[in-house]
Amino acid sequence: MEAGRFGYISKTAQESVREHLRDVMERYKLPSLPVVVSKVLITLKDPDFSVRQLSRIISDDAALTGRTLAISRSPRYAQRRQPRSVHEAILVLGFHTLRNIVMVAAAQSFLSRTNKVAKQLWRHSLAAALAARMLSERTGIADPELAFLAGLLHDVGEIVLLNGDPRGFEQMVEEVQQSHGSLVIKEREQYAFDHASIGLALLDFWDIDSRIGQAAYWHHYDGESIDADSLVSILKMADYLCFRADLGFFSEPPPPTAEMTHVFGCEDAESLEALSQEVRGAFDEENQLFASA
Ligand SMILES: [Fe+2]
Ligand SMILES: [Fe+2]
Repeated sequence: MEAGRFGYISKTAQESVREHLRDVMERYKLPSLPVVVSKVLITLKDPDFSVRQLSRIISDDAALTGRTLAISRSPRYAQRRQPRSVHEAILVLGFHTLRNIVMVAAAQSFLSRTNKVAKQLWRHSLAAALAARMLSERTGIADPELAFLAGLLHDVGEIVLLNGDPRGFEQMVEEVQQSHGSLVIKEREQYAFDHASIGLALLDFWDIDSRIGQAAYWHHYDGESIDADSLVSILKMADYLCFRADLGFFSEPPPPTAEMTHVFGCEDAESLEALSQEVRGAFDEENQLFASA
């Protein structure tokens, strides 16, 4: 497969993608989304959905209700009058943010085990989501909420590898960390597919916006055909900033290209450091919010 002009899979490669998905699904059991998450996503796709329907689905889940209310009352959505019901909270947040809150809950539910690797993947995924949204807001590249979701899910394929082989996977990531090796190359050697490929299959299986699956698929690709002002580039930059902020996932991503630092306005070491500090600050703040409900 080759990266298309915009860093996405070209139409001509669609058939090999389908073949690839079949291969991944033959080899791995892909986890289903929690029921409440599927219900919200299906409802949001229905052109005639109502806020009342959505708030009923959310209200059936106590943890999600608490989180939706807490986030709608956070400084990011500062209101003159704080939302008192899920219905009001949804109106304050908007549907895209609501979808993201639900997806964060899903990611958390897959990674809630006390396993050290799962914990690190959770922290990295949340940090990458916040970094991607921040980069999107700074540059106007992609919709910020889409960037958030892409950041959250860019390494989702790791869940499949981790669940399929918890001990072996843990050993592998530690080896990669110690040897400063490449995680994707090691994964291909050990599991036939890397997490970017499995991520694409999983996101397709969950019927998530295809732009996210495609961006996740390419986020470790180092070829020239990735445009610096694409969602893939946002993910690469987010990954790098997370690593610098001590919120990475075991292997060190390559530093951003000159074109990327230009696009993201961090051409000198100081501004790059400032950006990674910003990611750290956002993570510390929001981690509490997401952990609170
Ligand atoms: Fe990755
Ligand atoms: Fe990552």
